[in-house]
Amino acid sequence: MFSRIDHIGVAVEQIEPALELYRDSFQLRVAHREVVEQQGVEAVLLDIGDGHVELLAPLAADTPVGRFLAKQGPGLHHVAYQVADIAQTLQALRQAGLELIDEHPRVGIRGSRVAFMHPRATAGVLTEIVEPAAGVEAH
Ligand code: CO
Repeated sequence: MFSRIDHIGVAVEQIEPALELYRDSFQLRVAHREVVEQQGVEAVLLDIGDGHVELLAPLAADTPVGRFLAKQGPGLHHVAYQVADIAQTLQALRQAGLELIDEHPRVGIRGSRVAFMHPRATAGVLTEIVEPAAGVEAH
């Protein structure tokens, strides 16, 4: 069902100090930077092997990542698996009885389509599935 880990999501208060760690100290290459209004975040993708680290800074306190930070502070936020067909995967997950946050795919970074499963259904790990936009290389 899942072909690879696409990225891990890391919640941060601000992008720039996080870049000093991930880009400057860890020397990961910044692949993409984008404000994803629909998710209320500014996101940066950094390359690591054929996957990514996704830094997420909230656009406002009243957003999912803003609420996460208020509750838990900065840290690991989610794991994202790549899928070939997100609609088909969502249907299969639903049939398996898994609790979904997103019944339908929404727009993710770099024109991808994404959906989240509820951590209650996934052993406490907020889990995202991502279907990359056509023409966007996986890495
Ligand atoms: Co993500």
